[in-house]
Amino acid sequence: MRNTARTGMRTLPRRSFLLLVFVAAATISRPVYLAAGKPSSSQKQFYLIGVGPGDPDLITLRAIRAIEKADVIFPSPGVVQRFEEYLRGKQVIEGYWHLFPFYGVRAEDVAPSERERYERITAKRNEFIRKVRQAVAQGKVVAIVDSGDPLIYGPWSWTLQEFADLDPVVVPGLSCFNAANAALRCSPTSGKTTKSVILTAEDWPGKTDTIERLSKLRTTMVLFTMTAHFEHFIQKLQVHWPPETPIAVVEHAGFAEKERVITGTLGTILSRVRSQQLPFEYLIYVGDFLQTRSNPDG
Ligand SMILES: C[S@@+](CC[C@H](N)C(=O)[O-])C[C@H]1O[C@@H](n2cnc3c(N)ncnc32)[C@H](O)[C@@H]1O
Repeated sequence: MRNTARTGMRTLPRRSFLLLVFVAAATISRPVYLAAGKPSSSQKQFYLIGVGPGDPDLITLRAIRAIEKADVIFPSPGVVQRFEEYLRGKQVIEGYWHLFPFYGVRAEDVAPSERERYERITAKRNEFIRKVRQAVAQGKVVAIVDSGDPLIYGPWSWTLQEFADLDPVVVPGLSCFNAANAALRCSPTSGKTTKSVILTAEDWPGKTDTIERLSKLRTTMVLFTMTAHFEHFIQKLQVHWPPETPIAVVEHAGFAEKERVITGTLGTILSRVRSQQLPFEYLIYVGDFLQTRSNPDG
């Protein structure tokens, strides 16, 4: 006799019955928004993807899968070189990286000395926006592929506003901050008397949280340096931190072959670091958590 199970409608073979139960259970356990008919992320057309700060093995599986879906890629510098294998067969459009300055600023609010730069960047940004819109109108999936995490001092974060109507998908990436913590081999959230970390950058016009003000808290600070001068950071830090405060510079975090840590104190670091030789990819750490480093010179 065949194995059967009874449903309200008709008698099914046991295997079919079990399959039915499995499918029903899977459907019920799906997230509510899918059941409600909202498009899944696989149908989205605009992605902002972080691919990590260093060697290619720091990319995430989610980032790889998102790149796979894309037809058109706008990469940050260094991305093509590091992730060539994932970009094969895609339309890769380079040269649109530094487009955030003046985003949302009206021409009449720009100082005359800045007008030429404003016009140039705005024209380039508009060109980029047109390209994205065109690709999307053709049914293509567009992805911006950025180093590190795209929302930590990310030069493309403005695109989330610009393309809000496309319901962008952001794929997080490992930040250089994470990679540099690993390089230091100690936890920045474990200060002697503090438990917080301030991520900051140089003092940009219009921003009130200056390095000098933040330093008053004497909690761990991590400085994203971009193109600012090393000496200027140190001078500002010295206003409220005492000279014996431990400090570290982490270069090329996440690149196994070239990662480098230089340590000292606020009083000695200028004599240990050749600022002209610093790469674009370096972070400054300040705080007494650095004293907990095991084998600090290793
Ligand atoms: C535009 S920000 C981008 C940060 C990126 N979104 C992230 O989450 O890693 C660039 C600055 O980040 C820091 N940076 C980026 N990559 C780095 C790396 N591999 N090692 C150390 N610092 C890095 C440097 O201070 C650099 O000037």
